[in-house]
Amino acid sequence: EEAISLTDLSQRLGVKANDLIRKLMRMGVPAQINQMLDVDTAQLLAADYDYTVEKAGYIEEEFISAVEDRPEDLVSRPPVVTIMGHVDHGKTSLLDALRHANVAKGEAGGITQHIGAYSVQTAKGPVTFLDTPGHEAFTAMRARGVQATDVAVLVVAADDGVMPQTVESINHAKAAEVPIIVAINKVDKPEGNPDRVKQMLAEHGLVPEEWGGETIMIPVSAKAKLNLDQLLEYIALQSEVLELGANPTKPASGVVIEAKLEKGRGPVATVLVQEGTLKVGEAVVTGTHFGKLRAMTDDKGRPVKEVKPGYPVEIVGLSGVPSAGDEFHVVKDVRAAEEVAKNRELQERKKELTKTSKLTLEEIFAKA
Ligand code: GTP
Ligand code: MG
Repeated sequence: EEAISLTDLSQRLGVKANDLIRKLMRMGVPAQINQMLDVDTAQLLAADYDYTVEKAGYIEEEFISAVEDRPEDLVSRPPVVTIMGHVDHGKTSLLDALRHANVAKGEAGGITQHIGAYSVQTAKGPVTFLDTPGHEAFTAMRARGVQATDVAVLVVAADDGVMPQTVESINHAKAAEVPIIVAINKVDKPEGNPDRVKQMLAEHGLVPEEWGGETIMIPVSAKAKLNLDQLLEYIALQSEVLELGANPTKPASGVVIEAKLEKGRGPVATVLVQEGTLKVGEAVVTGTHFGKLRAMTDDKGRPVKEVKPGYPVEIVGLSGVPSAGDEFHVVKDVRAAEEVAKNRELQERKKELTKTSKLTLEEIFAKA
């Protein structure tokens, strides 16, 4: 739709109308002095002069509906459980054992470098697990993982004990107010010393239940498949207490767990659906990216048509690669999604511009 006349734009930018006409001609757009420009064209021209054009009265909330949940709309959903802990303490192995899979073997150098999201069917119902990296370089990922989480499982190797990223994980979980269940792993190792681990954890404020504290600590072995059912049991118990529910009937929303560009598929994002039901063909906006969901695949690589709250899914069809941690929302149609995305981009550019102009001011003061 048309937004502004060429003359009007030239005056506001403080440039000659003829300059704008010439610019348009060069872009292959026939132009006249009194012609109306649409938003995109006006933005394109203005950007050349470091200005941004905004649609007056744009309100994002008009595109992203906030539906109030009535209690009767809420249906129980799977708990989202994040596995955290120091590098090599056996997080991926433990999750592999829980889901009878073998991800750990295929990892480069045996080190997890991204967040994996999996749905595991247990005797007490489905549980969604997020596997986080333990390497010190991935602090942001651990912090992010725990944000979307109901329960944290802190994995501590019985032979290694509490290490720097163990402590960091405890702090992330506490900051996010997420309850912690401790899995003392590798108890199959003769040199493992669970009591020493408990002692060390107590020094960091996690006191085991059997010592009069509040933290459940379960000795497990991913390798020997020891006490895995017990761990699942406690996860289920802890989740029941939280009475997790979500409304599956409204437009879906949730959070991006991770995203990448894949050859032949384009931008691919693993998302966690937190509200509503996500369906193939729907229009989605996330950060400054948008698109129509071309396809969705579950954690086992199977195509799915719709995804309920509490489940992870891989989506394709976005215009770009979103950032992990970004929220996503289903909107009316792709046009609406594009509108929201473009407006966010504009806001970001505006912020950048004010930042650079501030910088120049500071430079001037510095020189004076
Ligand atoms: P990052 O994701 O890189 O932080 O590592 P991780 O915590 O996921 O550890 P991973 O599962 O990759 O396991 C690290 C090493 O410990 C591997 O060599 C596993 O075979 C070994 N391991 C894991 N669990 C056990 C266990 O219960 N017993 C024994 N003996 N070894 C284990
Ligand atoms: Mg791992």
